[in-house]
Amino acid sequence: MLLRAGRLGGAGGLLLLLAVRAAAAFEPISVGLTIGAASLLTGYLSYTDFFCRFSECCRAEQPLNASALKLDLEEKLFGQHLATEVILKALTGFRNNKNPKKPLSLSLHGWAGTGKNFVSQIVTEHLHSKGLKSNFVHLFVSTLHFPHETKIKLYQDQLQKWIRGNVTACASSVFIFDEMDKLHPGLIDAIKPFLDYYEQVDGVSYRKAIFIFLSNAGGDLITKVALDFWRAGRKREDIQLKDLEPVLSVGAFNNKHSGLWHSGLIDKNLIDYYIPFLPLEYRHVKMCVRAEMKARGMTVDEDIVTRVAEEMTFFPKDEKIYSDKGCKTVQSRLDFH
Ligand SMILES: *[C@@H]1O[C@H](CO)[C@@H](O)[C@H](O)[C@H]1NC(C)=O
Ligand SMILES: *[C@@H]1O[C@H](CO)[C@@H](O)[C@H](O)[C@H]1NC(C)=O
Repeated sequence: MLLRAGRLGGAGGLLLLLAVRAAAAFEPISVGLTIGAASLLTGYLSYTDFFCRFSECCRAEQPLNASALKLDLEEKLFGQHLATEVILKALTGFRNNKNPKKPLSLSLHGWAGTGKNFVSQIVTEHLHSKGLKSNFVHLFVSTLHFPHETKIKLYQDQLQKWIRGNVTACASSVFIFDEMDKLHPGLIDAIKPFLDYYEQVDGVSYRKAIFIFLSNAGGDLITKVALDFWRAGRKREDIQLKDLEPVLSVGAFNNKHSGLWHSGLIDKNLIDYYIPFLPLEYRHVKMCVRAEMKARGMTVDEDIVTRVAEEMTFFPKDEKIYSDKGCKTVQSRLDFH
């Protein structure tokens, strides 16, 4: 009974919608009237909006607000001019493309605490408003989700099933793989087919999905480039992508300990953008402390800012330029003060 009523209601709504569409094609005044009548009678027109207000909707075609993303990155991410630039370019390009030939894949590199996780969080919030809590955003941490080498076969099947299932449910799903350098090569092989230029894999298209890989791989070499700039008296902001590109391709992947090395993700060019995160300086740590205080609704007290920043350890030994843990422990240190 219920089912029948539901169906009839749906059909009625559809007819009304068609009537409105037809009217819209002809004359504006009756459009208003029809819309008014339709909303009054069934509420059908606002149904999607209504539904999406209470339950999360997958909006594959929702445009990305690039200026809002830019603003967010510039305000919240400190000391990463290259990452900001590349991420903006990559996402706006991908989202403005009605017909991408493959899913977007980003590989984020740099030491812990430089902002890789933080950026992923910001980016996902602009793609799905609930961010990491969204049903359409999936975070996998190698050591947490795939800890046992003996279960790789099981993990592979599971991961492929999840990716397939989730992209079937929402084409613009986002998958984040943290600790990519600790991911078993077998699992990288399991992800690979989804990243490729296939129109469909078993009837499902993955071309609107986004994959984000985070790793420390290449972090030491990125630091070396930054340090060379510093020692030469050049500005950090003058570091360009081309200064780091050779470093990323050689450093991150010719490393025996890095999972990516085995994977063929690189030699098949399945990664669209390599995004370097520079080591953070004392002034950036201070910015993180201030931002964290503001986020907690505290008034910014420069004494505390300095104290927290000075508790961090810096390297190299002699010059003490870069924070060992970036901004990673800022939150817990602030708790203490
Ligand atoms: C995009 O974001 C900007 C800045 O937050 C905002 O002013 C603007 O209204 C947004 N545009 C749309 C179409 O939502
Ligand atoms: C989507 O992915 C999650 C893991 O993030 C998994 O638990 C869930 O079963 C997947 N959904 C489908 C429909 O496969």
